[in-house]
Amino acid sequence: MRRWQGEDIWFGADYNPEQWPEHTWVEDVELMRRAGVNLVSVGIFSWALLEPVPGRFEFGWLDRVLDLLHAGGISVDLATATASPPPWLAQRHPETLPRRADGAILWPGGRQAYCPSSPVFRERSLALVEAVATRYAAHPAVVMWHISNELGCHNVHCYCDVSAEAFRRWLRERYGDLDGLNDAWGTAFWSQRYGDWAEVNPPRLAPTFANPTQQLDFLRFSSDEQRAQLRAEREALGRLVRQPITTNFMIGTGIKYLDYHSWAADVDLVANDHYLTAADPDSHLGLALAADHTRGVAGGEPWLLMEHSTSAVNWQPRNVAKTPGQLRRNSLAHVARGADGVLFFQWRASRAGAEKFHSALVPHAGPETKVYREVCRLGADLKALAEVRGSRVDAEVAILFDFEAWWGAELDSHPSADVEYADRLRALHHSLWRAGVTADVVHPSADLSGYRLVLAPTLYLVRDADAEALRAFVEAGGTALVTYFSGIVDEHDHIRLGGYPGAFRDLLGVRTEEFFPLRAGERVNLDDGSIADMWTEWLHADDAEVLASYADGPLPGVPALTRRTVGAGAAFYVGTRLDTAATDRLVARLVAESGVRPAVEAPAGVEVVRRRDGGRSWLFAINHTDDEARLDLTGTELLTGERCAGELVVPAGEVAVVREDPTAEPA
Ligand code: GLA
Repeated sequence: MRRWQGEDIWFGADYNPEQWPEHTWVEDVELMRRAGVNLVSVGIFSWALLEPVPGRFEFGWLDRVLDLLHAGGISVDLATATASPPPWLAQRHPETLPRRADGAILWPGGRQAYCPSSPVFRERSLALVEAVATRYAAHPAVVMWHISNELGCHNVHCYCDVSAEAFRRWLRERYGDLDGLNDAWGTAFWSQRYGDWAEVNPPRLAPTFANPTQQLDFLRFSSDEQRAQLRAEREALGRLVRQPITTNFMIGTGIKYLDYHSWAADVDLVANDHYLTAADPDSHLGLALAADHTRGVAGGEPWLLMEHSTSAVNWQPRNVAKTPGQLRRNSLAHVARGADGVLFFQWRASRAGAEKFHSALVPHAGPETKVYREVCRLGADLKALAEVRGSRVDAEVAILFDFEAWWGAELDSHPSADVEYADRLRALHHSLWRAGVTADVVHPSADLSGYRLVLAPTLYLVRDADAEALRAFVEAGGTALVTYFSGIVDEHDHIRLGGYPGAFRDLLGVRTEEFFPLRAGERVNLDDGSIADMWTEWLHADDAEVLASYADGPLPGVPALTRRTVGAGAAFYVGTRLDTAATDRLVARLVAESGVRPAVEAPAGVEVVRRRDGGRSWLFAINHTDDEARLDLTGTELLTGERCAGELVVPAGEVAVVREDPTAEPA
């Protein structure tokens, strides 16, 4: 791994100077300096300018931009510029255009119009990478390399003939021969048996449900094809440059089809883009989950927020602007949760193009604005927080997350279309948030030994080794919760027989003989007063204590919530979708039983997270309420420089970061 942290917390944005006349660049650097910007990502969508005709490179403008930034003391995260091919590629090589499942071609005019398996695209993009890297490897402004941009954001699934051939190669690699493929795909069903590799295709538009394992393998293949571009660019760069190399992931913005847990090994630092769901009044809870997941992908190491927005975006149905103070709360929440850099899309709001209504650090109205003033304040805040750089976030809880389980859980022809993979993940994470408890969101194969409590929401697809690891965690004294529709299938999407939740049946001491999904809007009561909806199941608590049963609905008297003592620990199962109040009660019980502690006791709506480095610790308190909050803390508040002795006051909507006195919190 190449070292990526600087002297300060990174602060900056995507910078697209090619959209502006050169005289604007001078003002840009001046405004960047005023705001405290120290890192900008340059060249992300510059391919068409850098290589206006195939094989002829024009670097003059980029030389001038990099020199200007360097003279201004601003570092550069330089893009490989391969994010979107120029129009000449499709015109000369129409076979590089991606196709949808129905055969329709996706044309240039937007961005990312290329087939991820195209050898032509690969060759041309690597030629560009080599040219850019050769020219700028030694440029003093360049401190980091940015491969492509949001790989697979728009073109993750391509069903063209080139992709079909690549899919066959991937399948041969995975299964060796057609017998292996036929077994894995269960092709004895519906006369699907393959006798020749040429008969095998991506799951193109079909008369009815396509084979689920074919679908699952195509999703794995598609993620791997995007990853292959990342690895190919990384390899090309790695030969030529010495700076750390990354690309921007899209964790927590609803992007489903890229298996970032597997990609993390291919970057020197994990970088993420996160955008709020503007329609959600509690969007800061989604932010916290995205950040905790990014940290999980990064293996607990600090990570870089490569993009978020100063205010509204342009691509949601109603692009709600950020209220005063929200930019700061959002940015510092990412830092609280492990980000050692806060960057935005983008520096200056565009005049033209599809993103002209997207917010930026410098709005259309110029620097005399709420946004630019808040940007300057954030720059000063981040400067004051430099000492937290490199520290790690305290978390005693892990939530298991597997992209493949997500893909599998939401395939078609299932018991209920209402089962959404991330639904319980969100519910449990939000409940922990309200309790002031920080969780890492990690892959099921992660080392669980450092946690007290592990939650497995909707872990539909699970490997034997991962199920075994959860059992070992509980036996060793941990507490675990498994929710409905977990442990159902193996990695081929084949049912684990003998009763649900197959992989976790023994651990939990329960056995479900039949699912009883509920009708839309139907609710059930439990005999402990809880309310639930959407899902119930005919469950036998063969070797578990029953904590609650259904009081009504299709299964009166049947257990809904169970607990089993296992070795030195305990394993809980919940077979229905509890409402928020009941989920909060369950989480409170799990937290108490496992001995997990909140970062600090805090009033409702105040987000609290602790970062720690050896004997030092910093408590972040983000007040999302309209009332002043008081916390029991002793130390130095870094954003104001003031001491707090026993009590920290956080005004409404404000943020505080306290370097705790060493005795304040036992390590
Ligand atoms: C993504 C992209 C950027 C820009 C923003 C807009 O994060 O990487 O190029 O399109 O979205 O929100």
